[in-house]
Order: sequence, then C-alpha cells, then structure tokens
Amino acid sequence: MKKPEIKKAAVLGGGMIGSSWATNFLWKGVPVHIYDISDEALQTARGRIVGNMKYLVGKGILTADKMNVALGLAKYTTDIGEALNGVQFIQESVLEHYDVKQALLAEVDKYAATDTIYASSTSGLLITEIAKDAKHPERCIGAHPYNPPHLIPLVEINKGEKTAEETVERTYAFYKSIGKEPIILRKEALGFIANRLAMGIYREAVDLVMRGVCSVEDVDKAVCFGPGLRYALMGPNLIYQLGGGPHGIQGLLKHVGPSIELWWGDMAVWKKWPPGWAETAQEGVNEEIANRAPEQGRSNEEITRWRDDGLIEILKFLKKI
Ligand SMILES: NC(=O)c1ccc[n+]([C@@H]2O[C@H](COP(=O)([O-])OP(=O)(O)OC[C@H]3O[C@@H](n4cnc5c(N)ncnc54)[C@H](O)[C@@H]3O)[C@@H](O)[C@H]2O)c1
Repeated sequence: MKKPEIKKAAVLGGGMIGSSWATNFLWKGVPVHIYDISDEALQTARGRIVGNMKYLVGKGILTADKMNVALGLAKYTTDIGEALNGVQFIQESVLEHYDVKQALLAEVDKYAATDTIYASSTSGLLITEIAKDAKHPERCIGAHPYNPPHLIPLVEINKGEKTAEETVERTYAFYKSIGKEPIILRKEALGFIANRLAMGIYREAVDLVMRGVCSVEDVDKAVCFGPGLRYALMGPNLIYQLGGGPHGIQGLLKHVGPSIELWWGDMAVWKKWPPGWAETAQEGVNEEIANRAPEQGRSNEEITRWRDDGLIEILKFLKKI
C-alpha cells in the first residue's frame, strides 16, 4: 500500500536547529507541531521562529501575509502525544546523546503512526545505534542539516542497517519538495560527509596554529578569502577540474600530485585534540572579533545576522532561494 504523503510534520526539540527546521517547514507551507520539554523552551523556540520569519520578510523573500499564514500553521506543545498526532514526518532535533534520542524514540513508538518517518538531525551519531531498540527501525533515518537549516540547502540522508528503502525515498522526496538539496550516503559513516570534510580542514587549521605557522585569525582569513569563496559555488573536484585547464583534474593530479604527497607527509594526523586548544581558539577568536569592521558585527547575534545577509546573496546567485 502506498504510504501517505507528508502533510504535517513534528519537530522534536525547538533549540537552534529545531526552530530553524520549523521555520523551513512552515515557510514552505507544511504545518508543524513543535515539541520541547518546557514552556520556557517553547517560548524561546517561538521567538526564534518568529524572528527568522520576520527576517525573511525584511529581506523581501516572504510577504507579511504569507508569514502570518505560515506562523498560523505552527502548534507548540510539551505533550508528546499531541505533538505526534496526525504527523507523517518527524524531525528530531534534541540533544546529541544516544540515550536522549533513544528515550525519545521509545515515545515516538508509543504515539506515532507506524508509517510516520523519524528523521534525526544528529550531527554524526549512527542511526543504526539510535534505532537499535526501536519497534520500527525501518522508518528511522538520519537527516543531518547544516546550520541554519532554513537557509542552507544541504541535508545528508543516512540510512541505518534496518532503514527501509521506502523511508529513504519518501524522505528524499519530502526534502526536495521543500527546496532542500538532499544527498544520500551509500553507507553509514560517523560524521557523514560534510562534517568529515569540515573536520579535515579544522584539524589542519588547529595544527597550523599550534605549530606557530599562523594565528587563529589568519587561518580563518585563509579559508574565507580563498577556498571558501569557491566552495560556495563548487566542490573540490570541480575546482581541480578547472585548475587543470585543458587537461582537467586528471592532468592537474598527474602534474602536481607528487608534490602534494610531500605536503601530505607533513600534515596533521593526530586523533585527539591538542591540550589547551579550546582556550587558544577562544583567545584567537576574541581577537579576530575585535578586529572586525564594526558594520560586520561584533556580538554573536550581529555576526549571525551579517552571515545570513551574505548567505542570502549567495543563495540568490545559486537560485536556491
Ligand atoms: N548546532 C548545530 O550547528 C547543528 C547542526 C546540525 C545538526 N545539529 C544537531 O541538531 C540537534 C539539536 O542541536 P541544537 O544545536 O539545536 O541543540 P540545542 O541545545 O540548541 O537544542 C536542543 C533542544 O532540545 C530540547 N530537548 C532536550 N531534550 C529533549 C527531549 N527529551 N525532548 C524534547 N526536547 C528536548 C532542549 O530543551 C532544546 O530546546 C543535535 O542532534 C545536533 O547534533 C546541530
């Protein structure tokens, strides 16, 4: 029998990611039940969702009328049974711990229809482990967004050992229908794709600072005024295709590949954070923030606004907003 379409969703956990997901669903016309553990947490979630929507209106992406319709599609509750009633899709966005997610999934098993999809926003935990005691592991899937999900299109879909192919297809189709760019991992991998790449860069960034090659501020500048500008438009393989000129990526790798192996031999391979890094990073970031042009923001809130302004310009260029 064909499974129902996604007509209503639940977002479990209305924190930074949950409230952004809720914004995304509501903006695209999907009614959402937002569930959290306290009224205070729901108040914060509501404030964030309304703030996100007003921001989109201010940017001319949404009309005030559409915003009001979208906000009217939201229901806030601390009652899990109410949250799961009549929904076909669950975006779980609670704390990043196996035990918290597993306990919540046990509640989902009690209250959700058996064909309701449970998609976890986990940043890198394995869905097989999250769903190990689930009554319906076939409907469980990992769906990792990038912060902020209502603006960044990527969702990494990862299936567990028992995830049904139908769950993968329905999840993919749902995200596509609301304008996301989902990719499906062919097999489970801790950290998925994008965060593994990000942490590859970050491990080297940490190492460069700890070795005394550059400051925290300069490592950030090296990323955002260099490769980061291109990464918004194309991935590393396409970048190297262009770098190889008429010879393409194959020619480039044959030409400079051997010298890159020399650097690889010198690059970071450690598996543990170097002692003192968190303090060094904070001190460096404080300096970096103090050196920012005031119009680019100095507080986390101001910098977030500045970041979102920039993201919207890039997304317009990419025709993704
Ligand atoms: N922050 C990021 O950049 C980012 C990016 C991608 C994915 N994620 C993932 O998204 C998830 C949420 O992260 P976040 O940054 O939004 O965290 P957060 O701390 O901002 O929000 C977590 C929310 O979950 C609520 N919560 C905790 N236990 C709960 C329970 N049992 N039932 C319902 N609600 C509960 C909390 O009250 C809070 O509102 C995590 O799995 C995280 O790894 C985070």
